[in-house]
Amino acid sequence: MNDAQTVPPKFKILFDTDPGIDDAMALLLALVSPEIEVVGVTTVFGNSHVEATTRNALNLLNLAGRPDIPVAKGADRPMVRPRGQTGEFVHGDDAMGNIGWTAVHNPDQKPLDIPAAQFIVETVMARPGEITLVAVGPLTNVGLALQLEPRIAQAARNVVIMGGSVATPGNVSPVAEANIHNDPHAAALVFGAGWDVTMAGLDVTMAVRMDEAFFAALRRSGNRLAQFIGRIAPFYQQFHRERYGYPDGGVDTHDPTAIAYLIAPTLFRAERWSVAVPLDGPAMGATIADRRGLFWPGPKVNCLMGADAPRVLEMFRVRLTA
Ligand code: BDR
Ligand code: CA
Repeated sequence: MNDAQTVPPKFKILFDTDPGIDDAMALLLALVSPEIEVVGVTTVFGNSHVEATTRNALNLLNLAGRPDIPVAKGADRPMVRPRGQTGEFVHGDDAMGNIGWTAVHNPDQKPLDIPAAQFIVETVMARPGEITLVAVGPLTNVGLALQLEPRIAQAARNVVIMGGSVATPGNVSPVAEANIHNDPHAAALVFGAGWDVTMAGLDVTMAVRMDEAFFAALRRSGNRLAQFIGRIAPFYQQFHRERYGYPDGGVDTHDPTAIAYLIAPTLFRAERWSVAVPLDGPAMGATIADRRGLFWPGPKVNCLMGADAPRVLEMFRVRLTA
């Protein structure tokens, strides 16, 4: 056997993100995972405005020793609606747990001179069948990319998003999850494009909970990146304690769960349903799944419905502290 037969191909991911504390965890997890090659990062508003999320993306890559990974700045507002409240109340004024990130640390790092949507199109079309889009913020950049070049829906290998919810109450309205609610029009485009979409929504991301014991283990480890996660976690822990009454410093593990699915899909249980997104009204941004499979013939979304939480957490701990 030659190497091509024995070594499974890496996932080449384009990581679309609004960093964000849990986005930072997800990006660092992807960067330390041998199954994954991060070919680029695209930024979007969400946890803060896009200038801040772009600065954070650049600094995270620099921290991880990967300033070479290209970053394209993306949308600062949704495709159709006005921008709603950004997420500093969850992630801190710098969207990084109030650690004082106000500038790009490495002067050699600059965002590309093309917008995120164009970078997505160029990257996907240059490598047909190879690129996995992992989107863990509002889906605006991906929606704009679909409008620019609809053939990316055939050319991308697959799409994994953190967003939505099938059977779990929302986190920004009774029924809606933040990333979908922030740009429901983009989400509707992404779900309807006919590509292979996996939705890591609140059904799994609120079922996997990092807690103070987990973060303490990261802080104790000699690993710099783990220690950084331990440093940005307290603001996020406080938010979860105040908002949801979570005990023991627990937090939802939103964005890293999308990466965990790529690495170890067998730790998740999935159901395939058509998903619709209301574009306004009290249910705006909900992800309604046709769970009887009777009513909507449209493209099916691979909805993650259950996770082996202890094993997912153990995977995070082992990888981040290695
Ligand atoms: C999502 O919203 C953001 O605050 C998080 O980074 C995550 O992507 C959770 O609803
Ligand atoms: Ca995010």
